[in-house]
Amino acid sequence: MVAANAIATISLVDAVFEPVPGGKSIADLELERGIAPCNKPYIRPERVIDKRYLDSDEDEEDFKNTIGPEPPARVPSNLPPAGNLHASLRIARRIASGRSGIVFEAELDEDASSPELTTATLPRLVIKVCHPPTYYRVAREAFYYEEMESLQGTVIPRYYGLFQTTLEPGVMFRYWKIEKFWGGNGANDSDQEDHSDFPRCLTVLILEYVSEEFLPVGRKLNDKVIMEIKEMFRELARLGVWQPDIQYSNILRVPNAELEFGASGKYRWRLVDFDRARKSNMSLRRFEIANEDRLDPLFR
Ligand SMILES: Nc1ncnc2c1ncn2[C@@H]1O[C@H](COP(=O)(O)OP(=O)(O)O)[C@@H](O)[C@H]1O
Ligand SMILES: [Mg+2]
Repeated sequence: MVAANAIATISLVDAVFEPVPGGKSIADLELERGIAPCNKPYIRPERVIDKRYLDSDEDEEDFKNTIGPEPPARVPSNLPPAGNLHASLRIARRIASGRSGIVFEAELDEDASSPELTTATLPRLVIKVCHPPTYYRVAREAFYYEEMESLQGTVIPRYYGLFQTTLEPGVMFRYWKIEKFWGGNGANDSDQEDHSDFPRCLTVLILEYVSEEFLPVGRKLNDKVIMEIKEMFRELARLGVWQPDIQYSNILRVPNAELEFGASGKYRWRLVDFDRARKSNMSLRRFEIANEDRLDPLFR
């Protein structure tokens, strides 16, 4: 498999309408690898509990809310130097459209891509395309894929980059036709940043395709699955990543992962959808409490 940072540019085949004298024509769109921006961390105030308030069998450590004033630093990357490959992708079937973007299956055009990129060196792919006014949600999600590099391919899908371009005046991204009313202006976002300067910044993520099967709804999950999902969220917590957006549709089943979690040590699920994620200084214990609050309703 090629490295997560091997691809420098992509083209999206037949993705835009361009103005031409007397009408419009269909053209490819070129995007370059972008730099994923960091959002504001979620900082809990340190809670200091005076010893005299603790029962004799209670340990101060148990009451530690945070690991300190800051979230943990990013784990150093294991990637080789960034590559210079080009991928030509065809936007295929639309899988879903949600708050942060539209997810399509993406097909690699091997003939128009760098020779190193083939269906043998790349997994099946999806492309997550931002909604027009809220490109930053997808850009922010990329930050979390990069933050969680060590979990790519095990807890989260493999990630092949954030790609961006600014659409020239008159150029229309074809897949936004019915999407232009989506997304809002970001007023509901936690940090209320003003992104109105960048209305035409087309931003996409390239991810490994996982499956279209969610964590099953409406039936009791077996204990092993519950343990496994909790452990996956613990993996995020160890990196200081807080994912508030816990729902069935963000937990995808890995097909043909037949082995038991305990036996293989490999997860049979992948977590997706990190546009609302934030780094946090919460202690592991505090993460545990916060995650259980959100996970328990899924397990009932
Ligand atoms: N890597 C992936 N492989 C397969 N399907 C995916 C993948 N990522 C997302 N999806 C599908 O797209 C849906 C929306 O993507 P998601 O990242 O959750 O964005 P949103 O913020 O719009 O909910 C998911 O619920 C899932 O059905
Ligand atoms: Mg989602």
